[in-house]
Amino acid sequence: MATGAAVWPLVNQMNPSADVQALSSIHVDVSGVEVGTQLTVKFLGKPVFIRRRTQHEIDAGRAVKLDELVDPIDYVWEDPNHKKPMPALDQNRTMDEAGQWLVMIGVCTHLGCVPIGNESGDFGGWFCPCHGSHYDTAGRIRKGPAPRNLDIPLASWVNETTIKLG
Ligand code: FES
Repeated sequence: MATGAAVWPLVNQMNPSADVQALSSIHVDVSGVEVGTQLTVKFLGKPVFIRRRTQHEIDAGRAVKLDELVDPIDYVWEDPNHKKPMPALDQNRTMDEAGQWLVMIGVCTHLGCVPIGNESGDFGGWFCPCHGSHYDTAGRIRKGPAPRNLDIPLASWVNETTIKLG
C-alpha cells in the first residue's frame, strides 16, 4: 500500500548496525508509523514487526473467541511481557489498551520464514508463503502448518513515540 512505502526510509534509518545488534535492548522511534502500516526492525538477529493497526484490524482481532484458535495460550516464553501463561486474546497481545500497537517477532512458527504483512492471508493479518500459514490481525495462527501464534518480544514504551525492545 502507498503508505507502506513511506515507512521504508525510516526503517533503513532504524536498522541497527552490527554492533547495536549485539545489544540486548534497542529503542525504536515509531513516530513515523502511520495507522495501517508496519515497521520492521532487526533485533537480536530476527525481524520484529511493529504494526500500528487500523480499527478494522483491532475489531477483527477482538471478535475472535478463544475456541476458534489453534493456539489459544501464549506461554511466558512466547510472550515474556506477562508473568504467567495468558489466553491469546487480542487485548493480551497488544502494547496499548486501544489495541493499535502490535509488536511481534516476524518469524513463522512453522519453519522460520518471514511472513508477509499488510493485511495478508485469509484472516487479514500475515501470510507465510513458504507453506501457506495464515495469521490473523493479532498474529495468531488460524490456518496452515504453523503450530503456534507469532511470538511477542519483550517490549515496553519509553515515551509516547518510542518503544524499547528487550
Ligand atoms: S515456514 Fe511458514 S508456513 Fe512453513
